Amino acid sequence: MSPNTQHPEPNTQKEASLACFLSMLDSTEVYWLTQTFADVPQDDSWLSAKERAFAGRMHFEKRRQDWRLGRWTAKQAMLHYLSLPSGHDQASRLEILAAADGAPEAFLDGIPAPAALSISHSAGIAFCAVAATGLALGCDLEEIRPREDNFAADYFTNEELRLLEQAASRDRPLLITLIWSAKESALKALRHGLRRDTRSVQVLLTEPGHDGWNSLAVLDLEFLRTLPGWWRTQGSHIQTVTTGLVTAPPREGLQPPAAQRNKA
Ligand SMILES: CC(C)(COP(=O)(O)OP(=O)(O)OC[C@H]1O[C@@H](n2cnc3c(N)ncnc32)[C@H](O)[C@@H]1OP(=O)(O)O)[C@@H](O)C(=O)NCCC(=O)NCCS
Repeated sequence: MSPNTQHPEPNTQKEASLACFLSMLDSTEVYWLTQTFADVPQDDSWLSAKERAFAGRMHFEKRRQDWRLGRWTAKQAMLHYLSLPSGHDQASRLEILAAADGAPEAFLDGIPAPAALSISHSAGIAFCAVAATGLALGCDLEEIRPREDNFAADYFTNEELRLLEQAASRDRPLLITLIWSAKESALKALRHGLRRDTRSVQVLLTEPGHDGWNSLAVLDLEFLRTLPGWWRTQGSHIQTVTTGLVTAPPREGLQPPAAQRNKA
């Protein structure tokens, strides 16, 4: 279903609640986009004045480049999601600002944009997920690599450690990266980030899905809720997406709807 699906104008408060609920069910599709440094324009005309000022205050060049890459990717994904043209003038109308907790929020001409988003960057690639406004949404991109011996023992739950013990040693770097990425993704969806103990969320790996995506779930052991999600490998990286509601596998953000249908 298109993210722009409309429902009739509600007349009463009850109908408004129902329409809100139905639009939530209608719009639980998640779109993803990746971009690299090569995609990001050199100039800053696609950033808003506030964003340019923020970038100007960054002390470290690497952080500034990662931030620009994340902003560029998020704006491309969001403009497409909102069916807006992708020119620099449109991109500068769309501001992606950090909330007090660090989570990115989008504003169009200063007004909250009707979409949720999450951003991750790793080794010159940014990964962004976009979905309907109000949906808890987190995404993460992580390079598959071996970790220090005590990494899993420090950050994983006993159940996750058991999962690792059962895995063949050649599969462990992927599994450790996947569990870590799913935790980060869930902690972003919950907007806590790494302020929370990573052992307070537990990753469950479930069924293979389609389009290369496999399903997962993250249990929030502190607040007793479950965040469903998806993961897949892409080159030497793992991509994870977690959400507050069950969704179909994430779809590539810049593909026209016909190409999406043929792929499904
Ligand atoms: C969110 C966090 C888990 C991301 O981890 P990471 O692997 O280093 O980085 P990623 O590239 O995957 O993600 C970074 C993006 O997460 C997003 N993010 C940051 N805090 C977030 C939060 N509380 N909730 C959701 N998303 C958040 C931002 O969009 C950020 O990119 P940007 O700053 O360029 O916009 C981590 O940065 C964190 O826990 N931050 C909160 C704690 C904090 O602020 N610590 C101070 C660090 S100096």
